[in-house]
Amino acid sequence: MKAVQLKNGFGFEELTLTELDIPMPGRLEVLIRIRAASLNYRDLVILNGVMPIGIQFPFIPLSDGAGEIVAVGEGVTKFQVGQRVAANLQQKFIGGSTRAEVLKDSLGGPLSGVAAEYIVLHEEGVVAIPDHLTWEEASTLPIAALTAWSMLMESGGLRAGDTVLLQGTGGVSIFGLQFSLMAGARVIITSSSNDKLERAKALGAWQTINYSEVPEWDKVALELTGGGVDHVLDVGGATTMAQSINALRTGGTVSMIGFLSGLTIPEFDVTSILQKAATIRGSQVGNREHFENMNRAISHHQLHPVIDRVFPLSRIGEAFALLAEGKQYFGKIVVQI
Ligand SMILES: NC(=O)c1ccc[n+]([C@@H]2O[C@H](COP(=O)([O-])OP(=O)(O)OC[C@H]3O[C@@H](n4cnc5c(N)ncnc54)[C@H](OP(=O)(O)O)[C@@H]3O)[C@@H](O)[C@H]2O)c1
Repeated sequence: MKAVQLKNGFGFEELTLTELDIPMPGRLEVLIRIRAASLNYRDLVILNGVMPIGIQFPFIPLSDGAGEIVAVGEGVTKFQVGQRVAANLQQKFIGGSTRAEVLKDSLGGPLSGVAAEYIVLHEEGVVAIPDHLTWEEASTLPIAALTAWSMLMESGGLRAGDTVLLQGTGGVSIFGLQFSLMAGARVIITSSSNDKLERAKALGAWQTINYSEVPEWDKVALELTGGGVDHVLDVGGATTMAQSINALRTGGTVSMIGFLSGLTIPEFDVTSILQKAATIRGSQVGNREHFENMNRAISHHQLHPVIDRVFPLSRIGEAFALLAEGKQYFGKIVVQI
């Protein structure tokens, strides 16, 4: 089978298209013919060796994939040959609250990833995908969609009439927009690009703010809502967190998801959390039950993920380069396998 590996170390130059034996499913395992994989910022920091999670070389990257079950091992009861599935990032995170041990069983680091024609997974680490989605669309669900879903709909308790503030137009935020609208909430979304804000508006955003032109977007959000938003999905991290808290209504929630603007908050008044009686909740993607709940909702609403560009596996380096540039895409980047 064709696969992409990091042969001997980290970095773009180590990405190598190679031929490997097709793996065989063991007891309770399924063999999946992967058809598409999507890229996440996580894959980039792993590729660059920035995330110290014990990668062993040679290593197959990418965490999010969708494909078809082509063989099942002894004892498999959940799936049959021919079913269309996606892999859950945290293979052993079935339900309940997250635990330290589930993080180490993540696909695409430290576990081998999905940038390969075939992968063997335990049946418990796999979910059926909505029938109306293409392989490319389904491949975008495991991290970006599940993160937005878990933070807004499962732990966030989003309700119709709430206001959600989303930052930028990457994968998590665009799914956040789609799920918020699905739930009857209204959305304020920021971007560095007016063209992207137009696209977000066309998707149904209530208000848009260009955070490059209007650095004090939190104050605009307070004005627009007359008192603050109910929920922020914070993907910026270092430079956005203080403003995310400021944009909240009293009693609102910030879901702390990303670190696109850096890891260390330079200056931060902790009393802002008390003054807003804010809930700050860290995200670690989501469990399989939440993935299944999300897929039901996606099917019911016939929601289609937003994909910016699709690359063949042989051009995975270009897909990573686009991701590394940042801000040159809207929604998700996908690789066909
Ligand atoms: N903890 C978790 O569970 C979890 C799960 C998924 C992702 N994440 C993290 O969340 C972050 C976002 O993930 P993603 O997949 O949505 O990334 P992405 O698709 O790469 O998002 C890129 C977009 O984010 C926007 N952006 C960049 N810097 C920004 C800033 N300082 N303020 C506001 N927006 C900014 C830009 O939008 P514009 O071009 O429109 O300006 C950019 O195009 C990453 O750090 C990722 O690692 C965490």
